[in-house]
Amino acid sequence: MKNILHIISSPRKEVSASRKLGKAVIEKIQEKYPDAVVKDRDLTTSPAPLLNEAHINTFFSPAESHSSEQQSINKYSEDLISELQEADIIVIDSPMYNFSVPATLRAYFDFTSRAGYTFKYDENGPKGLLNNDKKLYIAFTSGNIYSQGPFQIYDSNVPYIKNIFGFYGVSDISVFRAEGLSIPGIMETSLEKAIEGITID
Ligand SMILES: Cc1cc2nc3c(=O)[nH]c(=O)nc-3n(C[C@H](O)[C@H](O)[C@H](O)COP(=O)(O)O)c2cc1C
Repeated sequence: MKNILHIISSPRKEVSASRKLGKAVIEKIQEKYPDAVVKDRDLTTSPAPLLNEAHINTFFSPAESHSSEQQSINKYSEDLISELQEADIIVIDSPMYNFSVPATLRAYFDFTSRAGYTFKYDENGPKGLLNNDKKLYIAFTSGNIYSQGPFQIYDSNVPYIKNIFGFYGVSDISVFRAEGLSIPGIMETSLEKAIEGITID
């Protein structure tokens, strides 16, 4: 039985293209693995806070020394990381916001990127600590086009997520893109074509 973690980051609900694309990816995965269990991590209904001094002090101090406030900060972060550890398949809905990821997703990574949990450093440099058997699907949507053409170098969304998960040790990553959602002539069919093109390996 596969555990799927679905990370949602668009504040829009019914009209969100990334939610629709991510949902379609999940449905395709469920066709392949009918008994898969899906857990939603909706970062818009329960967002990770912006990282502050108390959070950082917690992450860089031994658990034995933690105050009760630090214990709850640590638990919150550990719970998010457990979801990643338990997932066989991770689907991230990632709309392009100002050439990057929505702030909710950026804040989330501040609570999941932790030495000793998702990565470590040894004499050979950094090493990812998530099990490398995991599969990551990125459901990317954008107003412009970034997979080719002059705006390719503006994309700090998909390469960023790939870098984060690569750093965590997850290298099996596929990207589905509904792009050009603001460009007349493309916007009408982009999402539909992206959904049609979903293949699960
Ligand atoms: C705050 C905001 C910033 C955006 N920034 C960009 C951008 O930099 N580049 C782009 O191509 N589209 C941009 N868009 C368009 C979105 O990427 C596009 O509408 C996407 O489908 C939004 O995801 P959603 O439909 O899941 O909400 C932006 C949209 C919003 C609301």
